[in-house]
Amino acid sequence: MSSPVSPLLEPLNDIQREAVLHTEGPVLIVAGAGSGKTRALTHRIAYLIREHGVSPYQILAITFTNKAAREMAERVERLVGSGVARSMWILTFHSTCARILRREHTHLGVPSSFTIYDDGDTERLIAGILKELDVDTKRFSPKAMAAAISKAKDRVIAPDAFAQMARGVRAA
Ligand SMILES: Nc1ncnc2c1ncn2[C@@H]1O[C@H](COP(=O)(O)OP(=O)(O)O)[C@@H](O)[C@H]1O
Ligand SMILES: [Mg+2]
Repeated sequence: MSSPVSPLLEPLNDIQREAVLHTEGPVLIVAGAGSGKTRALTHRIAYLIREHGVSPYQILAITFTNKAAREMAERVERLVGSGVARSMWILTFHSTCARILRREHTHLGVPSSFTIYDDGDTERLIAGILKELDVDTKRFSPKAMAAAISKAKDRVIAPDAFAQMARGVRAA
């Protein structure tokens, strides 16, 4: 006797179904806009929760934009109900990282109410520091300084090490 087919599989085509049924390990879906990627993803989430007893707390769904995150949350909610969907992390990259940092702020030695600076905030802060240090902001623009700091962070160079690397001044 075959087991009854989950209603979550019914509105899917063969490829979407294959993605949903692959419950162990990673799946990569590459397909064009409007081809049914989000449907495969949202049904896979619901299938893991409903048919495999996976805790919604163990599922992280990440998107690039707030709009996409909202849409995905609404679609998951329709499949698993609002109570379950609300307990899940269906967020953008930025909001996911911000949430982790706020929760784990003690490990960073910052208050949970920390503020994240955007480009404008950063440049204003650097401009203030340059002024304080009596550095000519015409030669050393806050934008260029911010870019140099950003590049050092990309290379995981800490402030002390970066200061040691400085051999003099140059116009960036
Ligand atoms: N197997 C399917 N059968 C019928 N309609 C589908 C199917 N898969 C997706 N759709 C519909 O097609 C549209 C685009 O699907 P979506 O999952 O949002 O695509 P994508 O995320 O790839 O842009 C939506 O309206 C969705 O409900
Ligand atoms: Mg989509």
